[in-house]
Amino acid sequence: MPFSRPPRVAGEAAAIADVLASGAIVGGGALTRRAHALLETMMGSGKALLTASGTSALEMACLLLDLKHGDEVIVPSFTFSSCANAVALRGAVPVFVDIRADTLNLDEDLIEDAVTSRTRAIMPVHYAGVSAEMSAIMEVAGRRGLAVIEDAAQGINSRYRDAPLGSLGTLAAFSFHGSKNISCGEGGALMINDPELAERAEILWEKGTNRSSFIRGDVDKYTWIDIGSSFLPSEVTAALLVCQLEQSQAITDQRRAAWHRYHDGLAEMEVEGLLRRPHVPQDCDANGHIYGILMPSADARNAALAALKEHGVSATFHYVPLHSAPAGQRLGRAHGALRVTDDVSGRLLRLPLYADIQPVEQDYVVACLQTVCRAVRSL
Ligand SMILES: Cc1ncc(COP(=O)(O)O)c(C=O)c1O
Repeated sequence: MPFSRPPRVAGEAAAIADVLASGAIVGGGALTRRAHALLETMMGSGKALLTASGTSALEMACLLLDLKHGDEVIVPSFTFSSCANAVALRGAVPVFVDIRADTLNLDEDLIEDAVTSRTRAIMPVHYAGVSAEMSAIMEVAGRRGLAVIEDAAQGINSRYRDAPLGSLGTLAAFSFHGSKNISCGEGGALMINDPELAERAEILWEKGTNRSSFIRGDVDKYTWIDIGSSFLPSEVTAALLVCQLEQSQAITDQRRAAWHRYHDGLAEMEVEGLLRRPHVPQDCDANGHIYGILMPSADARNAALAALKEHGVSATFHYVPLHSAPAGQRLGRAHGALRVTDDVSGRLLRLPLYADIQPVEQDYVVACLQTVCRAVRSL
């Protein structure tokens, strides 16, 4: 059984064949505009720009905020390298803050203490598609004059207090990587929710030129007017993404149903103290992106991973904390002891999850866990 499998939807092959036949494969065309419109409708506000990946959306966000050498950005250590890389690539410093033990998201109560005169932004990550505590984070950011970059790489179609993730921060990054709920292989999007950044975002996106204005007919020639890079994907990628976005609710419903099947299936094992199931706060509506359980110890987790593999189940860990990684120690700074991060990263075990996972496959995983968790519980 695989750990992950990209979702497939009807019409994808025809959409790709059509764009290839048309010859209009250069990025920024009609399909890219259609994907922007779909994302903007889903978010209810803001401007969307497709990117080559979630990583490049985060990098573009840091470029757009004009982060400079020595500036600081508050990030969780329990996240993907791309969050810290985007900051470090600007010569700025990722400042690692601990996470909450329940949601495994940035601990909003620790943020203010980590703010210095060099802090420019906070980058909350919506881990597993469960929202970070955005109300408290936006409040600190507003009071201290900081931007908020939501890492919504895992958060498409999730909500916080009825607002879609990706619509709340100054900027937000989505990933449409093959492992994500909505996927075009490699892809992403940057949401620009501060209208004052929208015009410059389009310029950075198009190699520092005003080519987008030229294509709209707003100017009669385009030229280099700012720094920038080539962030946009081709129309072939956009064709695939449009199909997925058009059916994103159906894909999300499948993911959520699978997530709940695990959740129900593991309830008794949690009562027995064999594992801890994931926690979704009342005011969060999550998209079923990841199902991760916490084992009683790191040794039990590692033994369970090996045992599940023997049963043909591909489970995995998450994440090696960034503050203890070689690049994190060189390029970042830990704010205090990151006890929860160190603890949960040793104990987390992620179960196979994809849109078309079959109930019988999930029941097999649960049955394996019943044996495995009892065997490793004393480690
Ligand atoms: C939290 C988080 N941030 C950023 C990324 C980077 O996205 P991508 O793989 O599309 O570059 C990922 C993807 O794995 C992620 O999970």
